[in-house]
Amino acid sequence: MDQLKDLINQAKSEFSQCQSLPDLDHAKAKFIGKSGAITEAMRSLSSIPKEEKPKVGAEINSIKQEIEALLAARRNAIQSQAMQSQLESELIDVTLPGNKQSAGSLHPISLTLQRVEMLFRSIGFDVATGPEIEDDYHNFTALNIPESHPARAMHDTFYIGKHVLRTHTSPVQVRYMKAHQPPLKIISPGRVYRVDSDATHSPMFHQVEGLWIDEKASFANLKGLLQDFLQSFFEDESLIIRFRPSFFPFTEPSAEIDMSWNDGWLEIGGCGMVHPEVLKQVEIDHDNFQGFAFGLGVERLAMLKFGINDLRPFFNNDLRFLKQFSR
Ligand code: FA5
Repeated sequence: MDQLKDLINQAKSEFSQCQSLPDLDHAKAKFIGKSGAITEAMRSLSSIPKEEKPKVGAEINSIKQEIEALLAARRNAIQSQAMQSQLESELIDVTLPGNKQSAGSLHPISLTLQRVEMLFRSIGFDVATGPEIEDDYHNFTALNIPESHPARAMHDTFYIGKHVLRTHTSPVQVRYMKAHQPPLKIISPGRVYRVDSDATHSPMFHQVEGLWIDEKASFANLKGLLQDFLQSFFEDESLIIRFRPSFFPFTEPSAEIDMSWNDGWLEIGGCGMVHPEVLKQVEIDHDNFQGFAFGLGVERLAMLKFGINDLRPFFNNDLRFLKQFSR
């Protein structure tokens, strides 16, 4: 019997060395498994005298219960230790800043285009578009710029075979007037291309073309419209602009529009009365219809709106610059 009682000490020592549940199950088998010491002792009851059986049986049972209690205690200890080390290894510091997914924002040129479009739509203009890869006819010839005309040299052009990357948005005038009868009132925003690069010139830039054709649209209407538009765009009723006489083969008379900038002037666009030759090209009866057109430089408007002296940062993709305009 002492031998059996010794099992309790043995179990205590073996269980305490177990660091995992499989280890513990292994150790348990030695004592109360199918061929464990306690099971063996139960089996040997058959060979002891009948009168001793109840007493010995009760003692074996009580030793078994003690060993089971030791086993349960060790199992709990192993489980809570495992839980504890899991909690420690998966520790989350809820005070750390998260990985922020920042939302994108509109490019300053897109913001400018949106504002221009919104203002012209509010006074009844439609918005038309045209191809960026143009043919020579729409970009030049139909606009009264025949081959070898010196005005072609004013636009240093990117040629792609017989096509050109359009040098201005004016070809959309031609396409639109060929497809629609007057009266008509459109703007046409879009990208244009020239071999040009300095603080106020970019090889790819944006223009907004404007066209108004009806029976009596006049130069005075053109001036009034642009004056009103620019005052609204810049939210400044005392805005200073000037119309400077100029030359475009597709308008007569023609003017450049300048805005006061850095103690001088910045040219923001060209304009004029649509030339009768252009109306002839698009088969509009120029005895009964007349009108005006303009082409504004969008980067120039953005420079003045946001107070920037150089347009190149608009296209350098430096987020520190671009983020200043996000709303
Ligand atoms: C034209 O392109 C004419 N098509 C405008 C026009 C339309 C006149 C309708 C009459 C009737 P101009 O080459 O001046 O004109 O360009 C118009 C504006 O685009 C300029 O005033 C300027 O604001 C802008 N611009 C011209 N070149 C560049 C460039 N390389 N980078 C940025 N802006 C430019």
